[in-house]
Amino acid sequence: MPRSLFNSPDVQTTDNIKLIVGDAGWRDVRDEQRYLDDPRGRFKGRGCLIVLPNSTEQVAAIVRLCNAAGVGIVPYSGGTGVVAGQLSIDSDNAIIMSLERMNKVRELSLDDGVIVAEAGCILENVHSVAQEQNMMFPLSMASKGSCCIGGNLATNAGGIQVLRYGNARDLCLGIEAVLPCGTILSELSPLRKNNTGYDLRHLLIGSEGTLGIITAASLVLKPVDPETATALLAINSPAHALTLYNEIKGHLGDAVSALELMSGFGLELVTSKFPALQNPFEVNCDWALLLEATGPLGIGERLQTALADCIERDIVLDAVIAQSQSQRDGLWALRENTPEANRLAGAFCNSDTSVPISRVDAFIADTVKAITEIHPGVRINSYGHIGDGNIHHNVIPPADVSKTEFLTSHPGIIDAVRMAINDTSHNHGGSISAEHGIGRLKTHDLETFAGKARLETIRRIKSALDPNNIMNPGVLIG
Ligand code: LAC
Ligand code: ZN
Repeated sequence: MPRSLFNSPDVQTTDNIKLIVGDAGWRDVRDEQRYLDDPRGRFKGRGCLIVLPNSTEQVAAIVRLCNAAGVGIVPYSGGTGVVAGQLSIDSDNAIIMSLERMNKVRELSLDDGVIVAEAGCILENVHSVAQEQNMMFPLSMASKGSCCIGGNLATNAGGIQVLRYGNARDLCLGIEAVLPCGTILSELSPLRKNNTGYDLRHLLIGSEGTLGIITAASLVLKPVDPETATALLAINSPAHALTLYNEIKGHLGDAVSALELMSGFGLELVTSKFPALQNPFEVNCDWALLLEATGPLGIGERLQTALADCIERDIVLDAVIAQSQSQRDGLWALRENTPEANRLAGAFCNSDTSVPISRVDAFIADTVKAITEIHPGVRINSYGHIGDGNIHHNVIPPADVSKTEFLTSHPGIIDAVRMAINDTSHNHGGSISAEHGIGRLKTHDLETFAGKARLETIRRIKSALDPNNIMNPGVLIG
């Protein structure tokens, strides 16, 4: 990203921003390194000022000043993004805007089935508020304790329940946002039907802060199902996961809320890096599937019957069904600690691509082949949201070789592996970014793989709404 994307704010603009937010509303970048940290440790963020507005009006006033001065703003949510969308990595001139002080639940309406939450609400806190009303907000992922609603929507986050409830955009009825000119777009109404032209909510969702700053959202609440059944299943291949999913649908309809693929190698890795966790299978398996179904009372028994049928037909080799909340937590801990286990093992590539569900088995096989051709000794932990066709391939140096040592002796391997995964995904009709976004990390990949019409339309929308390029410059289009 060229430095010129960010203009340096003059002293008067900086002073005026500080006046808008008051003393409690800004920090010196040198005192607050956490806003500069990349969760995967590949980048170091930079910036000249951290601002923490506490109202939509403050956000709008700051954006107006920055727009007039041509100063770039990097919106910062929970800081958990993995494609550097929240980090200015090439310039000290960025104003980092964190919405963490805008963390109120403004409203909860059971009749409308909606919770109106400000952008700085931590996802898990929204879960808790919903739960108090025996309702749930279905968006969920391992980072739920720190990621925030604004970032969830700006990146159209996915997570572990997409196959039943959809991505973040499917769970949002309305938004409030500050546009690059400083105008407040106030469309929080929880209407289920509203055909009045372009759906601006969906333009802002997934725009990664390049078209405006989402300040609040009306989020869909769902009733909590009376019973939850969770099982870890040993299977022979990813193809069996999909056969199983279709079988279970025949028995339980759309009760399956999560279907997470794990590899046998991944299970070994997570239990060795987190010794408190236990692999519940007596015999090592090539692949495992974490399946959760929720529904009316009796769903657990019906799942058991369906699984017995699958075991008899050799679709499932072994099954462990959680008998208590703590056993359920234990099974989920194997999945949720997998990214950290990969990191601890030295993963140098963590992909996030998707393919049509029907192609996922061939995609995994072809990707493993392509990576192995680049280097036969690397270890590959392929896991993820197989029910949505979204697999994360984590590529790890051979056992007993450190990441630094391996990368030093194999220059260019990160790019080679990344391109092999992208090419394979593309050849199977897939996307180079399933749920993490483009950020600053994947702008070149987007240029390579997005069609001309798509790129041109993105550029035109961006320049129409943000002619001065102040909103998260360098994200999406480099
Ligand atoms: C996961 C993150 C990396 O699914 O998307 O673990
Ligand atoms: Zn994921």
